[in-house]
Amino acid sequence: MAGMAASTTTEWWRTAVIYQIYPRSFADASGDGIGDLAGVTARLDSLAALGVDAIWLSPFYRSPQKDAGYDVADFTDVDPLFGTLEDFDAMASKAHELGLRVIVDIVPNHTSDAHAWFQAARASAPGSVERARYIFRDGRGPNGEQPPNNWESVFGGSAWTRLTEPDGTPGQWYLHLFDSSQPDVDWTNEEVRAEFDRVLRFWLDRGVDGFRVDVAHGLAKHPDLPDFVIDELIDSMGAAQMGHPAWAQDGVHDIWRRWRAVVDDYDGDRILTAEAWVEPLSRMAAWVRPDEMHQAFNFPYLMTPWDGTAVKEVIDDSLEAFSSVGAPATWVLSNHDVVRHPSRLALTAPNPQGVGIGPDSPGLPRPEVARARGRAATLLMLGLPGSAYLFQGEELGLPEVLDIPADRRQDPTFHRTAGERYGRDGCRVPIPWEADAPACGFSPTGEAWLPQPSWWGEFARDRQEGDPGSSLEMYRAALAARREHGLAAAPLTWVSGTDDVLVARIGDVTVACNMSTEAAALPAGRVIVSSEALDGTLPPNATAWILDA
Ligand code: NOJ
Repeated sequence: MAGMAASTTTEWWRTAVIYQIYPRSFADASGDGIGDLAGVTARLDSLAALGVDAIWLSPFYRSPQKDAGYDVADFTDVDPLFGTLEDFDAMASKAHELGLRVIVDIVPNHTSDAHAWFQAARASAPGSVERARYIFRDGRGPNGEQPPNNWESVFGGSAWTRLTEPDGTPGQWYLHLFDSSQPDVDWTNEEVRAEFDRVLRFWLDRGVDGFRVDVAHGLAKHPDLPDFVIDELIDSMGAAQMGHPAWAQDGVHDIWRRWRAVVDDYDGDRILTAEAWVEPLSRMAAWVRPDEMHQAFNFPYLMTPWDGTAVKEVIDDSLEAFSSVGAPATWVLSNHDVVRHPSRLALTAPNPQGVGIGPDSPGLPRPEVARARGRAATLLMLGLPGSAYLFQGEELGLPEVLDIPADRRQDPTFHRTAGERYGRDGCRVPIPWEADAPACGFSPTGEAWLPQPSWWGEFARDRQEGDPGSSLEMYRAALAARREHGLAAAPLTWVSGTDDVLVARIGDVTVACNMSTEAAALPAGRVIVSSEALDGTLPPNATAWILDA
């Protein structure tokens, strides 16, 4: 049994900094080139030293890994690639000893096609209870050879795949909003609801402090599964906003109320966090009403470009929308699905979510601009009231990796679009720990499931420790100052500034961020953290925290 969840009930999550571990790419103890739970355990000290409050682990469950573990074959077991349940318990105990809460991912919209339920559905007849756990339909056209509707998979291509029936004849179609290896389950089916209650309780009983809920805007579909006409590439957030019948349907909220009751059954202040790509923020707020989830990722903030007016507006909208339902604002700039934020914020051409960047993308970032904006954006984010999410490696200042050979790319997006979209591998490259060690310290054998670029070692943690100009030390200083000055629980007031120079008062700290192309005046006082060395002014692409003199 893992160490029990910490027992304080101070609503820690309202101000927490939560660090996302993408287990495949964090630390590999076994040496097979894929990160694992023992690797996480061995490196937890460094996260405690960084100063975060909690870790969230992307899926480590049994899975054929067609979507890097978001295709789950068994929700209550650890995949041998990542270790065992005992390894999980050891990891959770160590985290709790270090004062770190442990949040795990849960993927309720779909299973893997290797899940026992889907195997049974395949082998059973149309109309059977086995098929009723998924969304099977007959095809359109005289012989059912057309998909039941025109929905597209988020990863490209149709959202439907046709089965061959057990007798060899062409059969029904099943819905998959993601890869064909990820059939959507039918949440109108009570058996499905009850099974996920069991999964939640399994991990809560093992001591987890909460769940990051995958695709929390996708579970309920319009009952008629009507066509949706789209003539442009849109991501699931755009689709939800445009009324797509697969996304952001009201039926999801009953599910979250039921889950909230399960989580509230446990002591220790456990939480649910929604991955819900929903706009506008006022609509997303419905996911965090008092009887639903505790937090939702602030994707509108993440998607906002480097533009002072737009950033100020999304901060205001966020504070208002989340507080209108009594939830903390959240802030996030990077995760395993998006172009790492230093690179993203320095792009000079549009890059729709999910497309990713590679060597042939238009408007590629200039490294020095990416570095500066990445740091400045982080320092602005960590000053804001509420809870913040960090993605592994961002504390090292990692940019997106562009030069991954086609035959090493793994994201189903790349393969389902014949390489037209690079997808998400560029943010998932195993992270560097020690510059001169095999695989930069990621694995003892030098193996890495995605190739690390030749320059990766320059960003290694050991190169940055103790260097005050490094990204790592800036993150550490900011997290310590955020805690010391209680910024996460303080109100924000805009002080002044032109459209491109944001200056806010948060608690007793002034946070100034210069998004313009000219140096700006530095507010009076003592600089406690800054993203650049300062000489009396605030240069472009820089943020500083200033304490009254
Ligand atoms: C969102 C996850 O973050 C992403 O990585 C995954 O591909 C999809 N959901 C499908 O589970």
